[in-house]
Amino acid sequence: MIEIKDVTKKYGDFTAIDHLNLSIEKGSFFGLLGPNGAGKTTLIKMLVGLLKPSSGNIIIKKQKMSRDNTFLKNKISIVPQHINLDKELSIKENLIFSAKLYKIKGKEQEKRVEELLQFSEFKAIENKLSKKLSGGMQRKLMIVKALVNNPEIIFLDEPTVGIDVNNRRKIWNMLKIMNDMGKTIILTTHYIEEAEYLCDKIGLMDNGKIFYCDTSDHLKNNLGKFTVEHFNKNKITEYKYFHTIEEAKKYVNTLSDHYILRNTNLEDVFYNFTNRKVQ
Ligand SMILES: Nc1ncnc2c1ncn2[C@@H]1O[C@H](COP(=O)(O)OP(=O)(O)OP(=O)(O)O)[C@@H](O)[C@H]1O
Ligand SMILES: [Mg+2]
Repeated sequence: MIEIKDVTKKYGDFTAIDHLNLSIEKGSFFGLLGPNGAGKTTLIKMLVGLLKPSSGNIIIKKQKMSRDNTFLKNKISIVPQHINLDKELSIKENLIFSAKLYKIKGKEQEKRVEELLQFSEFKAIENKLSKKLSGGMQRKLMIVKALVNNPEIIFLDEPTVGIDVNNRRKIWNMLKIMNDMGKTIILTTHYIEEAEYLCDKIGLMDNGKIFYCDTSDHLKNNLGKFTVEHFNKNKITEYKYFHTIEEAKKYVNTLSDHYILRNTNLEDVFYNFTNRKVQ
């Protein structure tokens, strides 16, 4: 569905994306997990044709993505990192405005907007101005807006940043439903739980590269399912990973100081490769 072939993006002398290769299958829910400055937004912007790679190609549905590929642009949608609603317009008007941009008119427009208002449970408050919505509700409206053109692929750049746990869960449910409807979803995040909960495949990203890409379980199992965190003599945390609980217990028996034995998570995988935390 999506092929990223040896893509590099430079801003002047600075390399933001570095010879990156990646394939994403149709129907998948793909997560790009990385800390600030990893290159997530730059990559997403190239995938949707907003930025041109310095070299390499992006192929979507067997076509080269470019700024003026309107065929592809009609099949995809982006939910950007920063809120892009028209704040003086109501929820419904925002959706209508977006439909107009895609030249969806008349009865078709009415039907589409109505379906989305029902699906999102925004119907009861459809006339509320978007500036009066909470941050979480504004994020949700951005996602609903991205469905106006009934896209096959949806790119979401940190869709739940700054949202409380309850609203985050609501957005996660909506994204899961969209994926179950057959849409391919590519999401960037620096929330470990978000990537673990939603994504069937995760690319770990740092310094403009995806250095590891697999399912969440494989990523963790390859490192070792069990982690022992141990505070050493210098009060520095050491991490050790084990494939079986028996091995982990054997190790903790040799420790005299305080330790924690727990399941390995994606943060451990990320840290093990980069010595950096995701968040
Ligand atoms: N227009 C630009 N000009 C110069 N450098 C840029 C530009 N946009 C991004 N960068 C740099 O490229 C790198 C990657 O930025 P990018 O926004 O893609 O990261 P990100 O992973 O999305 O980070 P965040 O989690 O903070 O959103 C950063 O070091 C950033 O400073
Ligand atoms: Mg970003």
